[in-house]
Amino acid sequence: MAKYCDWMVIGRHTWVLDIGCGDGTPTHLLTQRGHRAVGLDLRLWPWSPGPHFVQADGLRLPFRDRTFDAVGSFTMLEHLEHPEGLLAEMARVVRPGGRLVIGAPNMYGSILLHPGDSVTHTGGFPRYAKNFALHVKKQLESIVTPKRVAFDQLEPDMTQVPEGASDYDAICATDPSVVRAMLRRYGIRTVHQSPSLEYSASPLVETVSRAVEVIPGLRDMFGGIFIVGERVPSD
Ligand SMILES: C[S@@+](CC[C@H](N)C(=O)[O-])C[C@H]1O[C@@H](n2cnc3c(N)ncnc32)[C@H](O)[C@@H]1O
Repeated sequence: MAKYCDWMVIGRHTWVLDIGCGDGTPTHLLTQRGHRAVGLDLRLWPWSPGPHFVQADGLRLPFRDRTFDAVGSFTMLEHLEHPEGLLAEMARVVRPGGRLVIGAPNMYGSILLHPGDSVTHTGGFPRYAKNFALHVKKQLESIVTPKRVAFDQLEPDMTQVPEGASDYDAICATDPSVVRAMLRRYGIRTVHQSPSLEYSASPLVETVSRAVEVIPGLRDMFGGIFIVGERVPSD
């Protein structure tokens, strides 16, 4: 969670909202670092005391417009039937000049840093080729019809979960070009994108990840989606 927490912080006392916070680990980390953090989840988790926790729907946030300095969701978007609603709500409650941080698997990623990890990474070469075609289609749609491009829906067969398939329960085919296009619709410009959701203990993986970050076409095809956006200050 260190990378997610690092990017969620702006200045010394950031007001942070972590949507789909699960057990609240980043919310606690951010509080320990001296920030004012709110964790929100649809499910009532046995949260331990310290930060503020709210049980609510991320698609109907119980906060006023422009409340937070930073708003994030980590590995949640891919579980939503209406993911655009979450991005719209995140953009609504962040202040102008504030930050959005989104971490999600890259469902059409076809070049791998972590082989065998997700639903889209099973099936060998035919699956990679299909993912590549789907990825190119989404990229083109994001350029030609940025106001209409949407995520594809997935229908996972939960009776046949391959061993070690961590994203098999995803119902939304999260793709970085679609995330960026949707964020633009809500006045958020992408200021950083990485193929890694976390810092790697391997210097090689970290170096490759940092190198890929600066190559836009390539970083959309690697690893996961880690996108940082900024709400346009004049908005
Ligand atoms: C895969 S977990 C990720 C938890 C945490 N962010 C992490 O990375 O450990 C997804 C979380 O999103 C929550 N969630 C799913 N749909 C939601 C919604 N509409 N509103 C708020 N939380 C939701 C789930 O209850 C779950 O805790």
